[in-house]
Amino acid sequence: MKISSLCLLLFLTACSSQDKPTTAVTNNLYPDQTSTGFKQFSKQCSICHRPPMPNQHTALEWRGVVDLMQQHRAQAGYGAMSEAIKKEVLSYLQAHAK
Ligand code: HEC
Repeated sequence: MKISSLCLLLFLTACSSQDKPTTAVTNNLYPDQTSTGFKQFSKQCSICHRPPMPNQHTALEWRGVVDLMQQHRAQAGYGAMSEAIKKEVLSYLQAHAK
């Protein structure tokens, strides 16, 4: 009896430790999801929070927001995105901006 409840406990802990973070893209509301820009965006922008909808800001505002996120990355100990990756993410956001 004792041993089987221990097994159950281990089983449950093993399960819960596999829970995925909740910041990932979990819906299909984002535009152009098959593009490489989207893939890069969903990868880079889901580390700290759920990625924002591109129509949340104007193209001009996105430039400033992405620069600000570079600073957040540095502060949090992630390196800044490379210029190439940043450009890909920014192009995706600007293409679908407000
Ligand atoms: C290292 C962690 C981190 C990453 C990675 C990150 N963010 Fe953020 N983001 C934050 C924090 C912290 C805030 C809240 C403080 C603020 O607004 O600056 C925030 C807030 C925001 C906001 C709300 C503020 C506003 O002006 O509307 C937007 C939009 C945003 N992030 C977009 C992005 C995008 C796009 C990416 C991918 C390029 C990204 N974030 C990646 C940490 C991060």
